[in-house]
Amino acid sequence: MSSADQIRAIRWEEGQLCLLDQRLLPQQETWLKLSDYRAVAVAIRQMVVRGAPAIGITAAYAMALAVREASTHTDWQARLLSAADEIKAARPTAVNLAWATDRQLALAQSVSTAGQAVAALLQAAHDLLRDDIADNQRLGRYGAELLPAEGGILTHCNTGSLATGGYGTALGVIRAGISAGKQLHIYADETRPWLQGARLTAWELQKDGIPFHLHADSAAAYLMQQGLIHAVIVGADRIAANGDTANKIGTYSLAVLAQYHQIPFYVAAPLSTVDFAMPDGGGIVIEERPAAEVQQCAGHVVAPEGVEVRNPAFDVTPASLITAIITERGVARPGFPVALQALAAGHMQA
Ligand code: MRU
Repeated sequence: MSSADQIRAIRWEEGQLCLLDQRLLPQQETWLKLSDYRAVAVAIRQMVVRGAPAIGITAAYAMALAVREASTHTDWQARLLSAADEIKAARPTAVNLAWATDRQLALAQSVSTAGQAVAALLQAAHDLLRDDIADNQRLGRYGAELLPAEGGILTHCNTGSLATGGYGTALGVIRAGISAGKQLHIYADETRPWLQGARLTAWELQKDGIPFHLHADSAAAYLMQQGLIHAVIVGADRIAANGDTANKIGTYSLAVLAQYHQIPFYVAAPLSTVDFAMPDGGGIVIEERPAAEVQQCAGHVVAPEGVEVRNPAFDVTPASLITAIITERGVARPGFPVALQALAAGHMQA
């Protein structure tokens, strides 16, 4: 079996978008074939595909499907606009979804005919997928330089091949560190309630033969106190212009713990995850997901019937708790507003 580094969970085949159904992993590797953008929006909402870069790429393909359908109508541009709204509404927190959708919309508006738009949006989706993998590999190399030559690295959620076009962001940094010969041992949070760590990160690490332990989220403080963790590295769903970072629920508590234990806390994300229109994390919309995800664990009811639940899917880590933000163009250090702008403008930093 191929390593997870080579896994591609998003493919275009014979005019259809193929998504590896992440709800069923690791027990089943089942692919869904979608040719209607509405079904793609549902797949994003229901977590068939998840992870900020992955849902951005999926949204780009959804727009390619939408313009193909709209192209037989004279009001194709209005139809595409309404499809874009539907796609963007699938999940609110990860900025990559709106970023990729709006990019496709602007591309459609820049050409003269519906036929040109059909070809251009499909090609742009392919390009986004290809570029995301290359960006992650670059980001991984920058990030690997920050990791110790040996030691324990704690990570949260799934930020690997499954969450991106391929290779991964935080998990890409770990992969690059291992490739560079670093002796890393990974500690993967299980990531309740959806268990991205237990189901997806563990699956990827096992396929790649990277040494790791899986632990309950609540074990993180103990592992740090025992001196087992030398760096924490996570991904991001939206980074505000000042560096405040929305990521999977539980990330903020890890950042607080890391500061207490004087452990570096790194965020790894492509620049498409930085929302320069959002001055700080206070304005980031946090998705609330269904109560059943907390009332149940892996499909089994664990709470008394009718119990009320809060299920925020993300939290915001203040920039002051972040040691560095690793991107495909280099590493931003505190003083994030200036450092992130410089990276976006094309200046490399390390
Ligand atoms: O709810 P999810 O699984 O889409 O959340 C994913 C995360 O929070 C990831 O850490 C983030 O998207 C970065 S993925 C490279």
